[in-house]
This record gives sequence, C-alpha cells and structure tokens, in this order.
Amino acid sequence: MKIFADTANLDELKELLSWGIIDGCTTNPSIVSKEKGIDFETRMKEIIEIVKGPISIEVTSNDLDEMIRQSRKFAKWGNNVNVKIPMGITGLKAVNILNKEGIKTNVTACMCTKQAVLAAKAGATFVSLFWARIEDMGYNAEQIVCETVEIFERHKIKSEIILGSFRQVSHINRAMLSGAHILTIPTPILMKLPWNPRTESTIQEFLDNWEEFKKR
Ligand code: E4P
Repeated sequence: MKIFADTANLDELKELLSWGIIDGCTTNPSIVSKEKGIDFETRMKEIIEIVKGPISIEVTSNDLDEMIRQSRKFAKWGNNVNVKIPMGITGLKAVNILNKEGIKTNVTACMCTKQAVLAAKAGATFVSLFWARIEDMGYNAEQIVCETVEIFERHKIKSEIILGSFRQVSHINRAMLSGAHILTIPTPILMKLPWNPRTESTIQEFLDNWEEFKKR
C-alpha cells in the first residue's frame, strides 16, 4: 500500500518526505488555490523535483481540446507526472487519447464502482475514489471501495485505485483495510497518524523510570 500526500505546500511536503513514508503527491485546483502568491507551473515543478514518485496535476477545463492541450503540457514537466482528468464522458475521451500517447492519467472525482471501472477501461493509470464525498451523499464509502477493489482484482485490471477525500483518522483505518493500492492523505490527518496516547504514556513511563534509576 502506498501513501501519497494530498497537498501542494512545499514545507508540508519536505516535512512529510523526511519521515520516509511518502510515495507520491496529488494536487487539484482547490489544493493549489490554498497556496498564496505562487506561480502554478513553478510550484508544480518544485514538487516534481522533490517527490520522486507519481505527481498528479489536474486540468482546469471541461473542454476536450483544452484538457488534451494542458495534459500534453503538464506531461512534459516530468516523467513522474500523471494528469488528473475529471470523470465524465469528456474525461473518458481525453483518457483514451492520452493513453495512446503514453501520457499517464488519474481519473478524479469517481464516486462509484462503475465510474472507476469505466475509467480503467478507457486507460487510466490511476482512478481516484473520494471517500468523504461519497459518505456526504449518504453512501457507504467502505463498501463501494471494497467492491471496486474486488472487481479490479477479479478482472486483473491494471489501473491503481487511489482513495482520497479523507476528513478524519477513522477514514484512514477503514481505507487501509480496503485493499486499495494508494491512499492520498491531507497533511493535517497525516500529522495525526503517528500519535497514540498509549505510546506517549509508555514512552513517558520509560523516561520517568530512567530518571529514577539515575538518582540511585
Ligand atoms: C484526491 O486526489 C483529491 O485531491 C482529494 O482527496 C479531494 O478531496 P476533498 O476535496 O474532498 O478534500
């Protein structure tokens, strides 16, 4: 199972990379818009430089020709770039074209199994299912993800499943069990993952006992 950082913030990425747990990075227009005073292309190239794994950069148009134009441009920025394409009929057409050109894609905003299967059939390198947004609609994200994983395994579908849209640690616990290939996690949640109150109290107990021992 791989872990990607769902951020376009360089300081966050540098910190997370230093932990040795980050295999890639995903961005989208909302994530990029949180970064104040940056040049989009410069920031993406900075991320491409420091993260050795796959980097998702999203197109900002629903028009097929414009999607293809942006995708070709992003793909030239680095071998580790994959282009995020929105799920939909136009998105599928774009993926079909880009796949034939050898440009890697990540079909984003999938909310159900059939969308993920169609994206994979069109030639997506990655398909992204959005956990919390699925739950916002009243559906069971865990069930949808597990069924998608099962179908991909049963039919030996090559596309990798990325799970995103996490809002709490409990989502991560369930997502890790689902069998999806990749979890892309926002920094505030990643920062909480190493922490466990029993670990803290155990380490403190050891340190306290060591201090007592030194006094003898
Ligand atoms: C995944 O690639 C997306 O960037 C992300 O997880 C979107 O989730 P959200 O907009 O619901 O936070």
